[in-house]
Amino acid sequence: MNPARGSLLGIEHLEAAEILRLLKFARRMNPAKPRPLLKGSRVFLLFYEASTRTRCSFEVAAKSLGAYTVLVQSSGSSIEKGESLLDTGHTLRAAGADIIVIRHPNAGAPWLMAQHLDIPVINAGDGMHEHPSQALLDAYTILRHKKTFKGLQVAIIGDIFHSRVARSSCHLLSKFGVKIILCGPPELAPEIATTLAPGVRVTRHIEDALRSTDVIMLLRVQSERLAGMKIDLADYIARYQMTAARLKLAKKDAIVMHPGPIIRGLELTSEVADGAQSLIVEEVRHGVPVRMAILARAIGKMR
Ligand code: NCD
Repeated sequence: MNPARGSLLGIEHLEAAEILRLLKFARRMNPAKPRPLLKGSRVFLLFYEASTRTRCSFEVAAKSLGAYTVLVQSSGSSIEKGESLLDTGHTLRAAGADIIVIRHPNAGAPWLMAQHLDIPVINAGDGMHEHPSQALLDAYTILRHKKTFKGLQVAIIGDIFHSRVARSSCHLLSKFGVKIILCGPPELAPEIATTLAPGVRVTRHIEDALRSTDVIMLLRVQSERLAGMKIDLADYIARYQMTAARLKLAKKDAIVMHPGPIIRGLELTSEVADGAQSLIVEEVRHGVPVRMAILARAIGKMR
């Protein structure tokens, strides 16, 4: 079975025109002015992994559109008792779900669910694969500040290897011809990442990544996924931490982004996190209208 219309499983196979349509519609969404586009619908939030921003903003987005939300987390549900992903999906559908938003540690889990259910499935992050809603809200944030993707250079710095955010953002930005520079040590920014999308290159030197850069995207060093890798955090900080001094190497009006959660003192200093160029809090704010657009699209109301 093909995924139900309105599913959002990744950015890779989404057309540029559809991305722009979503971003444009998000501009019209305002959680302070609720619109009942999803009135009476039930949005189930199925989270097999920890989440703060993504879960909360999908919930606020759904409620701002008049939907009910039901949160199902792996701890405290039958998932703990060993129920399979598909059995959980069928159970939620039988309980009345109209849309399922799912975060799962395995790549492809949302896709599997979407192939077996007749309702839209939205990927809220699957393993090291994709995180489409984050890439969309980051694109929305970039456009609010830079107006166009034309001529932009984006540096993505940090744990790219484990990052579904980096993967989705590379797909998205490359569809608009953005120059993308990935930066980190070989374990976290492997050379193979250049094959991710057209227009992507890798550098080990942060000075090189920052030169002429308009947008700096920092990524969390995912300590929980580093087992078996020889990453010396002191060395990482010395070579890749975003400091106020390093920030000066980028364009004067460069913006600093991070999907969160941020680890102060590791990926960046507090001075940068709280500085005038940082959009870290703004990204979270934009998560709501962008997710309202994603949910409206899910039920065919993005008009
Ligand atoms: C990210 C995620 O879970 O993929 N966070 C998020 O959704 N805002 C990034 C991370 O965990 O480092």
